[in-house]
Amino acid sequence: MTSGCTWRRPRYDASIVQALFAAAASEPQALDGQVGSMSLATHVRGMQDEDLLAVARLSEDAFRDTYRFDWQANAQALLDASRAGRVDVCVAERDDAVVGYCNLRAWPIGGWIDQIVVARDQRQKGIGRALLEATVVAARRRGYWKLSLVVSSVDAGALTFFRACGWDLVGTMTDEIARGIDGLLLSRIVDHALHPNPNGRPTSG
Ligand SMILES: CC(C)(COP(=O)(O)OP(=O)(O)OC[C@H]1O[C@@H](n2cnc3c(N)ncnc32)[C@H](O)[C@@H]1OP(=O)(O)O)[C@@H](O)C(=O)NCCC(=O)NCCS
Repeated sequence: MTSGCTWRRPRYDASIVQALFAAAASEPQALDGQVGSMSLATHVRGMQDEDLLAVARLSEDAFRDTYRFDWQANAQALLDASRAGRVDVCVAERDDAVVGYCNLRAWPIGGWIDQIVVARDQRQKGIGRALLEATVVAARRRGYWKLSLVVSSVDAGALTFFRACGWDLVGTMTDEIARGIDGLLLSRIVDHALHPNPNGRPTSG
């Protein structure tokens, strides 16, 4: 099954991730705290050094059938960019184990999510939704008025997940994921008040 938010190329160098993250600039932010309606046993917080292996394993398990990737280097790039304050990476912890993560980076006039993963045996429990909610909180803190991502047109589960979490389908790009597999651009408003050009917006609505 093809999956992944924005990993459009079968071969993808972690240094590209790093380069993309370099475009983001803000203060490091903590993501600690209980989020949304998620079970009390689960906690969402910012990624720490000790989460490296868990994040690498989660990404490999979720995406290895689709992408050839250095999973450890990917996790390290996320951690480094997070420590440098260029991106936010939140992890979900349950019973002292990391069971999910989600990244947020800058994108023109908003933020972008590349990866959100929940461990297979922990899905459908609200953890993915909680990770998205934590990411929206982080986006608001960074001043992003809108979030966007791309999912594969053949990944019906991911599309349903994001729609259930309040994301809108913005458009389709033919062959964006691979030849014969379109990319679906999804977005979600964080806060209209954060729009970069508020004076150019309609006065009503
Ligand atoms: C997509 C993913 C992150 C969802 O995480 P999750 O913890 O299972 O999601 P939640 O339990 O928070 O679900 C939130 C809502 O989405 C729905 N949903 C989640 N996964 C779904 C699926 N595969 N099919 C249909 N609906 C789904 C839930 O039913 C729930 O709806 P509700 O609130 O109306 O009851 C998880 O399935 C995953 O890690 N997939 C592999 C990686 C991936 O494809 N990531 C997305 C692209 S980067």
